[in-house]
Amino acid sequence: MQKPILIIGACGQIGTELTIELRNKYGAEGVVASDIREGSDALMASGPFELLDATNYAAIEDVVMHYEIDQVYLMAAMLSATAEKFPMRAWNLNMSSLFNVLNLAKEGKITKIFWPSSIAVFGPNTPKENTAQSTIMEPSTVYGISKQSGERWCEYYFKKFGVDVRSVRYPGLISWKTMPGGGTTDYAVEIYHEALKKGEYQSFLDRDTKLPMMYMDDAIRATIQLMESPAENLAVRSSYNLGSMSFTPEDVAESIKKHIPNFKISYAPDFRQKIADSWPSSIDDSLAKTDWGWKPEFDLDQTSSEMLSNLKKEG
Ligand SMILES: NC(=O)c1ccc[n+]([C@@H]2O[C@H](COP(=O)([O-])OP(=O)(O)OC[C@H]3O[C@@H](n4cnc5c(N)ncnc54)[C@H](O)[C@@H]3O)[C@@H](O)[C@H]2O)c1
Repeated sequence: MQKPILIIGACGQIGTELTIELRNKYGAEGVVASDIREGSDALMASGPFELLDATNYAAIEDVVMHYEIDQVYLMAAMLSATAEKFPMRAWNLNMSSLFNVLNLAKEGKITKIFWPSSIAVFGPNTPKENTAQSTIMEPSTVYGISKQSGERWCEYYFKKFGVDVRSVRYPGLISWKTMPGGGTTDYAVEIYHEALKKGEYQSFLDRDTKLPMMYMDDAIRATIQLMESPAENLAVRSSYNLGSMSFTPEDVAESIKKHIPNFKISYAPDFRQKIADSWPSSIDDSLAKTDWGWKPEFDLDQTSSEMLSNLKKEG
């Protein structure tokens, strides 16, 4: 039997769905959810939960010892748009939580870590189309700087101390169960909610801002697939490029119109436009494909159908 998994930051956009999927797979008691706040009713009812601050090493160690945790998924972080408002808080949270988990593994208290990076590790000088795994990386946001540093530390802990840490650079993620937590691609979730509520949406990114995006089901599948891959197959110990689709706000609007013909979109770019302009438009994820068999399933039209039908059912 697999020893229990701890998810830190389990109540967020990704953590909520990841926790439930891992519980479907390993049983409710096999996955301990934790966060600094309580999550949705569905999440709280689905299995054990601990209030836990990711910046507190001793508190994480207590939970790890108590439940005999073997693997940690670290999902707590401050995301790109919020991090521009609180740079020092973002840096402290994003880095100290990662060091806490890396050091627990270094000391032999856990054996495997998942830590997500982001397309934000790239910057304005990075080639935008089909962005390679290794290329110019000069992130210009607080969030991107923290993710880029995190990647370097993950690789360092792997090479120096043999820590089995695994990571992907998530693109913008689209989901209907939990609202996004302050990122630059949040428009691609809000737009579906507003389409159903009001039939219109004002986008904070401009019409032709093309970014790499992914439906949440694909992101969760990729995460678990990477964690279950044999260690010797994984050549990348910083973080794997992970791709699925790329689109603009106008593309999403067109896709929504196939379901809601009168849907209207308008554009009022704000401070997030500058962040989006510094990121790639599409991603070369060939290493993820060859090393651990990554294959996305959802395109934009399938994503729109899933989002609109599930949000409609939710009321
Ligand atoms: N959602 C995306 O589109 C996206 C894209 C790229 C990378 N990522 C990365 O994936 C991870 C999860 O992202 P998300 O979208 O679920 O974020 P989110 O903001 O929705 O969730 C983060 C969770 O962490 C919790 N948290 C914050 N501070 C904490 C602390 N001190 N201790 C414990 N928990 C704390 C929050 O309460 C929240 O529930 C992050 O590392 C993020 O950078 C997300």
